[in-house]
Amino acid sequence: MKKDRIKIATIGGGSSYTPELIEGYIKRKDELPIGEIWLVDIEEGKEKLEIVGNLARRMVQKAGLDWEIHLTLDRREALKDADFVSTQFRVGLLDARIKDERIPLSHGVLGQETNGAGGMFKAFRTIPVILDIVKDMKELCPNAWLVNFTNPAGMVTEAVLKYGNFERVVGLCNVPIGHNMRESQLLGKTVEELQFQYAGLNHHHWHKIHDKDGNDLTEKVMDAIYENQDNIMENIKFIPFFEEQLRDLGMLPCGYHQYYYLTDDMVKKELEEFATNSTRAETVKKLEAELFEIYKNPELGEKPEQLSKRGGAYYSDAACELIASIHNDKRTDMVVSTRNNGALSDLPYDCAVEVSSIITATGPKPINFGKFPAAQRGLVQLMKAMEEVTIEAAVTGNYGKALQAFTINPLVPSGKIAKTILDEMLVAHKDHLPQFKEAIDKIE
Ligand code: G6P
Repeated sequence: MKKDRIKIATIGGGSSYTPELIEGYIKRKDELPIGEIWLVDIEEGKEKLEIVGNLARRMVQKAGLDWEIHLTLDRREALKDADFVSTQFRVGLLDARIKDERIPLSHGVLGQETNGAGGMFKAFRTIPVILDIVKDMKELCPNAWLVNFTNPAGMVTEAVLKYGNFERVVGLCNVPIGHNMRESQLLGKTVEELQFQYAGLNHHHWHKIHDKDGNDLTEKVMDAIYENQDNIMENIKFIPFFEEQLRDLGMLPCGYHQYYYLTDDMVKKELEEFATNSTRAETVKKLEAELFEIYKNPELGEKPEQLSKRGGAYYSDAACELIASIHNDKRTDMVVSTRNNGALSDLPYDCAVEVSSIITATGPKPINFGKFPAAQRGLVQLMKAMEEVTIEAAVTGNYGKALQAFTINPLVPSGKIAKTILDEMLVAHKDHLPQFKEAIDKIE
């Protein structure tokens, strides 16, 4: 039954993104009857939790709301009787991300947060933790919805569905919202005047655009992209996709597809950053330190503009709109990671896909997409197999499976180099990979 006052718990509450969330809830105050917000973090995140929690309290107070904001290191207390649980934690903090980016790059191989070897290691560290959270949720708030923003969001969602056997989970990403906003601008229309259909995996989806009369505008967006080089999707701006290839796809790729369609240029760009100690993880670490200084200001009562320099802009719109849609059965059209259930007929029925869905009180209902043309099908099936094997390796700590996942990943070369990178990363991350202890002991 719908409650009068809802309780929301956010795990990784000390994240610099929390003001985004609070702003999103405040915007939706009339449709979300919030009673309590619990921000949870771990001992190492205590100081950040305190700073961001106090800012959250000032934001709520400035908005004239009586919501209680609780800060705690006790996850179980926060989960007890929660209605929604959102996750935005990073196991090993940004230092682990630095290793994910720098170790592969030191071998001339792509190092990135959610793609290639880095993305797989983020999955290895994160999946056991999310499964532990799910275990607590089943006991303390079995009817709550888990809204996962933790990367790699698609694999984390699939692990919860398959290995956590927990159905009430939705994976979220802000990339589709960014595309919708930029591309509607290119067409001189509002997002509401258009119909976007997304299909694929998290950070690996393609989409088409129609107007409300059913006319396909995808080609028109491509025309605008190539006429107007500086007014396109953020990542495409500096390394454009080959026009003939994009036209042949007939669908728009997402920014992260650059790693697959333009691998050489992307690795080159990242190696330059590697050489100047300015990988994305290092840049974000500096940005975070600046943000927390700003958050400390007792006069600040709203989300500061500087937060938009992080890649997660519109995160609040995704997470808060999802929660409002489930709570009110709004039937909003949103792009989420959810169980495929046959919507993408080229992919397993029970895997997680990122797909346009209608959000109801009983969760997302994926909109049927059907089959991909061969060029997309080949890539997406390979990526899904890689994700499945990565998740299995994360759950079992099986070294052979981890090497298998490395071998399938299009961004990791196979053979000795794969093994060298795998071994080096296992040892570097050993504090956060208890399931791989036996394999790590053998390497050391
Ligand atoms: C995008 C991605 C997120 C990612 C973020 C990275 O929004 O969809 O998955 O976390 O960018 O931003 P950052 O500022 O951490 O590089």
